[in-house]
Amino acid sequence: MMSEQGILEERAYFLSVINTFKNYRNLSYNRIQHKEKCLGSLSDHHKKWLSNCSEDLNKLKEGVDKNYEFIPLVLKHAYTMFDNAYSNTPVPITPTDQQEKTLSEGLEKVQSVFKQLMRDWSSLGASERQQCYQPIIDEVLLNYPEDSFKRSEIQVLVPGAGLGRLAFEIASKGFRCQGNEFNLFMLIVSFYVLNLCQDIDQYLIYPWIHQFCNNHSVEDQMTEARFPDVKPTPSEEGNFSMTAGDFLEVYTTKEEWDCVATCFFIDCAPNVVQFIETIYDILKPGEKQPILVQMEILNRKKKFNLVKFIFVFQVFIRFV
Ligand SMILES: C[S@@+](CC[C@H](N)C(=O)[O-])C[C@H]1O[C@@H](n2cnc3c(N)ncnc32)[C@H](O)[C@@H]1O
Repeated sequence: MMSEQGILEERAYFLSVINTFKNYRNLSYNRIQHKEKCLGSLSDHHKKWLSNCSEDLNKLKEGVDKNYEFIPLVLKHAYTMFDNAYSNTPVPITPTDQQEKTLSEGLEKVQSVFKQLMRDWSSLGASERQQCYQPIIDEVLLNYPEDSFKRSEIQVLVPGAGLGRLAFEIASKGFRCQGNEFNLFMLIVSFYVLNLCQDIDQYLIYPWIHQFCNNHSVEDQMTEARFPDVKPTPSEEGNFSMTAGDFLEVYTTKEEWDCVATCFFIDCAPNVVQFIETIYDILKPGEKQPILVQMEILNRKKKFNLVKFIFVFQVFIRFV
């Protein structure tokens, strides 16, 4: 049971995440305005070399405005998505409160949510998903062929689920699948996408407007993405859920899961051995080796050792 102090700290953090979302437009404008200021301070001679720059910065502001339209929709449901101390908590609304409670690294987190929305839930992200999620899904399917297993009885856990697409896809194949995530920015947005998005391509965002490198032109930066590319309704026989919290703290029941599938998660571990031990402990024992770690990098069918595999994709199935 969490102490009162712990509850207060969690609540304060939750409110600061909400305020960071609310301040996304102001914070983003501040950064663009800083660039405008730098531009304004150039000599006329230098300004001539950057004739389109001011116009481009205005386009970025339009992109920020468009992204910002999505935020109130998501926040409307954030207070009631957890059945706990956050529920129906009023958020401070004075400008001072908003200023004080914005997380310093928060803008980057909101920006990464927009990129992740593109990757997980837009048709533009399909090729990226094909490369990183499909090998994992194939591996799970391979280990649980439909003619030998009742997939609705196979429990698959996806820790570090981000915005939930991998877990959703596995559930859509008929498995009982649970995603787990501890980043509130991701949880708040995934709750909206997974429960409240009604129509395909309902929303328009500009995922790259904050990225000033790896662009040929401002048009690349202004590339738009629509989401969701599918209506996030898993198949009836499948069973899909998401949990909030630190994987190491939430999953303490031994031998509960048939399979643990992760993508770009193990490398987030402060202590990778602890993650692997936890995965081992929560997996149901099987028959053969201590732990079978299977992975593939795209089409290169190659097994890697523990040190190498941690940075790519993983499907864990325990055999003893
Ligand atoms: C690099 S992201 C990958 C997200 C998603 N799997 C994907 O491939 O797009 C890693 C995710 O793991 C989450 N994460 C890291 N450590 C975690 C932990 N101990 N418990 C739950 N989630 C965690 C992070 O918040 C982040 O969303």
